[in-house]
Amino acid sequence: MVVGAGRGPLVERVLKAAEAAGRNVRVYAVEKNPNAVVTKEDEWGDRVEVVHCDMRYWEAPEKTDILVSELLGSFGDNELSPECLDGAQRFIKDGGISIPSSYTAYVSPLSSTKLYNEVSAYGDQEHLETPYVVKFKAIYELADPLPVWKFDHPNPEVDALANGMGNGMGQPGIPGFNEHNVRDAVASFFIKQDAVLHGIAGYFEATLYKNVMISIHPKTHSPGMFSWFPLFFPLKTPIYLPKNSILDLHFWRLCDARKVWYEWCAVPKVVGGGGDVTPLVGGASEVHNVGGRSSWIGL
Ligand SMILES: C[S@@+](CC[C@H](N)C(=O)[O-])C[C@H]1O[C@@H](n2cnc3c(N)ncnc32)[C@H](O)[C@@H]1O
Repeated sequence: MVVGAGRGPLVERVLKAAEAAGRNVRVYAVEKNPNAVVTKEDEWGDRVEVVHCDMRYWEAPEKTDILVSELLGSFGDNELSPECLDGAQRFIKDGGISIPSSYTAYVSPLSSTKLYNEVSAYGDQEHLETPYVVKFKAIYELADPLPVWKFDHPNPEVDALANGMGNGMGQPGIPGFNEHNVRDAVASFFIKQDAVLHGIAGYFEATLYKNVMISIHPKTHSPGMFSWFPLFFPLKTPIYLPKNSILDLHFWRLCDARKVWYEWCAVPKVVGGGGDVTPLVGGASEVHNVGGRSSWIGL
């Protein structure tokens, strides 16, 4: 099954892979957007059945060995891949797999007067609490990216929830249905030089299957892959970071019955003579995008 099949490029790859492996396959191509609908039904013949619906609510006629999807955003989970695949994993046979099998979000501290000026020029809170997909040029990364969280598919926790689906549990619209996809993390960076922090970069690494990866993390970037640019999470007020300080970036992925959003804040710390680490007084940013007031993704 290819879920979120769009115009069908992954269906093509699935058919090619099956040919290369000498296997007969039956493929279901599931797509909810009528404007992105798969167009090659005639060419594929009866090997592919195109299904026009939301994968979370589809009643599949049979189970699949391999669930293939491409629902990733620049931060991995920021286009609701976890929530969509939670809904689709009930189609996977025992012992079946999801491609991708996992993805990890990464963050790093950024100095970029240009990006900060462009976002703050809007003059409102909403723009300063919204992540942007940006092809980085005029930026300086103050430290290498660190992981914040990971999602695995299929997720055994979801099977337990799905048993209660008849009661509405596990479905959008019910408070608490998505708590297993809430995340929080603190990534601590050593800042080697005096610098001004303007925002945070967001990247992802994904494992498709076993050791086959795709990545937009600068250190592990898949060669020649231009499908994703990084995210830029702005800060409302730039923060001065002294040489040899520590910067804690706090990140949350939160949800309610209808939406998913990120909150973030930056806390600089100084290392004292005795090696003790204390927050820089007055240095911390506020928590951005509280309650998803400025940016969110609708379920
Ligand atoms: C990133 S695009 C990938 C499309 C495809 N690889 C292509 O190149 O045309 C993700 C696709 O998943 C579809 N999608 C997202 N959520 C879905 C859902 N819950 N059920 C079915 N399709 C969904 C979107 O409409 C979109 O076409």
